[in-house]
Amino acid sequence: MSITVKQLRPLFMGEIGNIDLREPLDKPTVDALTAAIDQHAVLVFHDQFITDEQQQAFSRNFGDLETTVRAYRKDFVPRLDVHMADISNLDENNRILPANDRRRLNALGNRLWHSDSSFKRVPARFSLLSARTIPSWGGETQFADMRAAWDALPHRVKARIEPMICEHTQLFSRAKIGFTDWAEEERVKMAPVPQVMVRTHPGSGRKSIYLSSHAGRIRGMEEPEARMLLLDLSEFATQPQFVYSHTWKVGDLVMWDNRCTMHRAREYDETEVRDLHRTTVSDGRPTVPEELAA
Ligand code: OGA
Ligand code: MN
Repeated sequence: MSITVKQLRPLFMGEIGNIDLREPLDKPTVDALTAAIDQHAVLVFHDQFITDEQQQAFSRNFGDLETTVRAYRKDFVPRLDVHMADISNLDENNRILPANDRRRLNALGNRLWHSDSSFKRVPARFSLLSARTIPSWGGETQFADMRAAWDALPHRVKARIEPMICEHTQLFSRAKIGFTDWAEEERVKMAPVPQVMVRTHPGSGRKSIYLSSHAGRIRGMEEPEARMLLLDLSEFATQPQFVYSHTWKVGDLVMWDNRCTMHRAREYDETEVRDLHRTTVSDGRPTVPEELAA
């Protein structure tokens, strides 16, 4: 039996049926899923009650996994394996983090529109997020189709931004929510990396705007002008017609293509547990080749 794909929105979002993510997949199924995400950019799977090991095995069908960076405060004990990003409000003993906990405050950065790991020289290709426990209200994840946004830009803007190279770092995104007190050693670790402004997707051939909360400079441009352009583009690209809001059910797994989408978390009742586990497939190579990076 082969998988089913149902398009959920006019522009993007595929809902996958007839698949069990606990089982190893054959090549035709992996190819069908790759074709589906190339077309729909975000895939939703329901009723997948998987372990971290099963999630990792499924994710590895699509490439090598990222390991989590713990750039902020080394004194925290991780709750999950190094191949899992902990998208929860829990500490290592599964207790809800206190309101002033640095991990909780840092995680608020996920509520800014972003593309995962755009602050790394080699950014993320796919992210796969599995819902283990969800709160009674809020906590939706929203996705924006950056191909559709590109398509809708005026020609004048397309021609202007196409050759641009941006600089991304968590220093920019964290500064937006008030984190500025970094040790010199942390600043060095979070040094800006170059990323192209416009990407062409190898699977679909479609162009998209590569934006993220981590972007803060554009090479060869004055910083205020760059910031304003990035803000304007972000605002344009996240208009309602380009956005899908996912309301989670336990057992949902959402897989998105970071090359051509942005996403953000929404507010929820933080006296309740929200526990999602993410695996991240690396894109394998930088968007700006070595000879142009310096
Ligand atoms: C992520 C992320 C958003 C959310 O897992 O990369 O940004 O809704 N999550 O938790
Ligand atoms: Mn994210």
